[in-house]
Amino acid sequence: MSLVDIDHYVTLMMQRNQLPAFVCGAVVGAFLVLLAVQMSRRMRSSGLVDELRDQLAQLTAEVQGADRENEGLRSQIQGIGRERDLLHDKIKAQEGRIDALQLRADEISTVSERLSLELHETQARLKAELSARRKAQALIKQYSAQLNTISNSDGKIWIKPLSGSVVPFLPLSARRTAVISLANLKGGVGKTTITANLAASLASDGLRVLLIDLDQQGSLSNLCLLHEERANVKRSDCYIDNLFSEGGNLAALNRCVTQLRIMSGSGQLYLAPVREEFADLENKLMTRWHSGLSDEDIRFRLRGALHSPQLRDHYDVVLIDCPPRLTTGCVNALAASDYVLIPVLLEDTSAESVPRILSWLRKFQSTSCAELNVLGVVGNKANPRERLIAREQAIWNSLGDNCKDAWGDPVYFYKEIIREHSAIEGRLAALDPRYESRYRRLVAEIRQGIPHARLQSAAIHPLVGAPADGRRD
Ligand SMILES: Nc1ncnc2c1ncn2[C@@H]1O[C@H](COP(=O)(O)OP(=O)(O)OP(=O)(O)O)[C@@H](O)[C@H]1O
Ligand SMILES: [Mg+2]
Repeated sequence: MSLVDIDHYVTLMMQRNQLPAFVCGAVVGAFLVLLAVQMSRRMRSSGLVDELRDQLAQLTAEVQGADRENEGLRSQIQGIGRERDLLHDKIKAQEGRIDALQLRADEISTVSERLSLELHETQARLKAELSARRKAQALIKQYSAQLNTISNSDGKIWIKPLSGSVVPFLPLSARRTAVISLANLKGGVGKTTITANLAASLASDGLRVLLIDLDQQGSLSNLCLLHEERANVKRSDCYIDNLFSEGGNLAALNRCVTQLRIMSGSGQLYLAPVREEFADLENKLMTRWHSGLSDEDIRFRLRGALHSPQLRDHYDVVLIDCPPRLTTGCVNALAASDYVLIPVLLEDTSAESVPRILSWLRKFQSTSCAELNVLGVVGNKANPRERLIAREQAIWNSLGDNCKDAWGDPVYFYKEIIREHSAIEGRLAALDPRYESRYRRLVAEIRQGIPHARLQSAAIHPLVGAPADGRRD
């Protein structure tokens, strides 16, 4: 029972007057004492309470402070968590990149392995190429030295004794088709023009005439081929080069031959044309032969085709236009020829060229051209007047002795001297009625020089009488 309850009870008793006043006083006194004690206790306990309250407040404040700290720490932890997540993401991204880089590194390493393999191969190839190049350079050096020797030799290399496989010379009596080369080591003397005109004149007599162009300038081919024929030749690659590059026989020669349309009527004129590239081929063949790289004696490739008993089944006469130099083609022409005809201009420098070629021919006779005969010297481009002018006549007369000295035997000089005329320039004047008789006379003289050849066929027209020296129509 609390003091308040007691107080309430006493008050209630008194109000009801159920106890005597003494008791009441005693009770009240006791009550007061108790109250005092209670009061003092209460006072003491209230101090404690305050202290506790203070402590509680302090504790509450501390707890609140701790809460705040906690809150701060939590938000720090959250911040750190976010940072960790970010770092995690970054790490993941970096890991992805590292994986990609690893992949790339793997690829690069594969490529690098392949490249290093290729590098090795390339190095090996380069080494091989370098050594091949060195060898080629050495060969080039050797070849250019040989070419130098050759060009300085002024044709002497062609006097080299026969070597390797040599095509035998089939005598004209067995062949019946005469092979005639027109040659002079001087340019512009009319070799090409006379070749073409003689051929046209012989063909118009009913003979089957084969022209062979061995001058890489191709003047004869240009003179004889019509525009359309030239295109056909180009398209079908019908050049004499093929015979020289492959070697071969009459069939191979015939594959290089084109029948010319320039001849009308019964005439049959054939041409084995040439092209510019022939010069390179000639040099190559000559160098190989001169270096001993070829088993074959290169001087006889043309003879291989022309010295066939079947030649007469195709042609009655062969005329070869030579270049003004001792080329592979020229030497082949001479080695395959029965005769050589030498055109000359009636002027000093040109006249000097005749003894020069004669002395070469004599040298060749002891090697590759044992059967070669000189058919004669034909004057060209003389002044168009009736007789030779004095200067021309003097040159013409002096040529006889000079040629005999060089050749060792007398040389025939054609009575029919071809005059200079614009109708002849670049054209086949032998087919022109105004000039054909000149060529007929020349042909007649030639026939007399080759008595046993098919040139003398009974089918041809009667011979035209030989003209007097310097005679003009
Ligand atoms: N009788 C002539 N009358 C006029 N011109 C001529 C006569 N003969 C040749 N010609 C011309 O002279 C030039 C040289 O002739 P051609 O080409 O026949 O000489 P070539 O000796 O064959 O020369 P190359 O050695 O250069 O081959 C040509 O333009 C040709 O048309
Ligand atoms: Mg010529």
